[in-house]
Amino acid sequence: MTTNNPKSIIVIFGATGDLAKRKLFPSIFRLYRSGKLSEDFAVVGVARRPLTNDEFRDNVKKSIGNLQEGNVSAETFSSHFYYHPFDVTNVASYQELKSLLGDLDGKYHTEGNRIFYLAMAPEFFGTIGENLKSEGLTSTGGWSRLVIEKPFGHDYESAKELNDQIRHVFTEDQIYRIDHYLGKEMVQNIEVIRFANPIFESLWNNQYISNIQITSSETLGVEDRGRYYESSGALRDMVQNHMLQMVALLAMEPPIKLKTEEIRSEKVKVLRALRNMSEDEVDEYFVRGQYGRGIVNEQEVPAYREENSVDPESNTETFVSGKLMIDNFRWAGVPFYIRTGKRMTKKSTEIVVQFKDLPMNLYVEKDKAIHPNLLVIHIQPEEGITLHLNARKGEGSTTSTPIKLDYCNNCDDKMNTPEAYERLLYDCMRGDATNFTHWDEVALSWKFVDTISRAWTNKKAENFPNYESGSMGPKESDALLAKDGLHWWSVEADTHSRSE
Ligand code: BG6
Repeated sequence: MTTNNPKSIIVIFGATGDLAKRKLFPSIFRLYRSGKLSEDFAVVGVARRPLTNDEFRDNVKKSIGNLQEGNVSAETFSSHFYYHPFDVTNVASYQELKSLLGDLDGKYHTEGNRIFYLAMAPEFFGTIGENLKSEGLTSTGGWSRLVIEKPFGHDYESAKELNDQIRHVFTEDQIYRIDHYLGKEMVQNIEVIRFANPIFESLWNNQYISNIQITSSETLGVEDRGRYYESSGALRDMVQNHMLQMVALLAMEPPIKLKTEEIRSEKVKVLRALRNMSEDEVDEYFVRGQYGRGIVNEQEVPAYREENSVDPESNTETFVSGKLMIDNFRWAGVPFYIRTGKRMTKKSTEIVVQFKDLPMNLYVEKDKAIHPNLLVIHIQPEEGITLHLNARKGEGSTTSTPIKLDYCNNCDDKMNTPEAYERLLYDCMRGDATNFTHWDEVALSWKFVDTISRAWTNKKAENFPNYESGSMGPKESDALLAKDGLHWWSVEADTHSRSE
């Protein structure tokens, strides 16, 4: 059920937190600025801290400060925001909230439509859900949807427990589990590039593809998230969700229709086909790393073990690279390599599809290898695709030279590429859950990742820290590909260079 003019009240639990300030308020403002929200909406911020509506609106105005343009008034926009100080466990708080929402429905014609956005610690999800139901906040004349942020559990068992609690109150199709990578323009573009181009789709299999590499590197360290990160690490923070979602989109079969259920069910099949390892095999397929001191963007930075709220002998990984095998007809034998980490050389997310070499190539200098054809999908910060081919350059030449065909999606129009959160919020308001993760995807991803985390918890990393800040990770990560006769393409997938 999608409509282009959604009317609803968004209730943000955790409205004084970082996510609300950095992502949610600006995204709601962008939707408003582009006319997608009309005037029929209200946002109710809920948190423990006692704030007045005016104080809350000041926070909102601050967070959208640099986005204002033209005659869109921050004053009018922020007047749609209300604050409700709240104790999650106190039933009376829910009653007050209910009556506020009822009043706002009348004022903004929102017809009982509600988005409950849980931007807070997951230990409260169950209690909030139960109380919303028992106090009647989910039974209005309109629709109710629940948006949940990660971390969705810590492993399969805790995720299932959390899911059971939520499912007690909301049906699966009312639940929108955020993976913000699914809101990124070029992640959404993977399906289009694959399924709208016969030249790619006909080669998109183990006959023609040698391997696929996905790199998501960051320059930032853990910043002030040491406490969370210590119990998460890069595996839970990035691999269980964002990296596996990208693998699923790259490997899935074409859906029968562009419908939420069809797309999700194809992604689920990929996750089901991931080759499971035993704990003893983990070292063969996965590499972990932790950053030491180093230089990033010309600044000296501390080691992970020196960061705030981090154990000085921490065993937590800040880098993961791995080789995934998808045991199905299309992909048998093709490795998907993933790598992600903090404090690396560059902030970049990029997918490189390496095609197989021709059995014989006439246009190559003696004893030299021909450059393979690569399709590079740039997810961020650049958005676009580059195709690496070989061609003759220079009259009379008998050898080929690598050339690039480039398409840049955000070069001319950078300002107008919507932010991931902006798209996802809008999708949720319209009732389109395609770019949110279904429980089946979450469950399978956890099961896959759990084996790795068990192996790593049971066996301490003796060599941490094992990569310098500002590098592309530990040398074992290069060795992972070298033993297959391959190497990582650099983050820019430069035609001539390797990753180091
Ligand atoms: C989040 C992780 O999910 O993704 C962060 O919790 C990480 O640790 C972030 O920094 C990366 O997202 P992006 O969009 O900056 O690549």
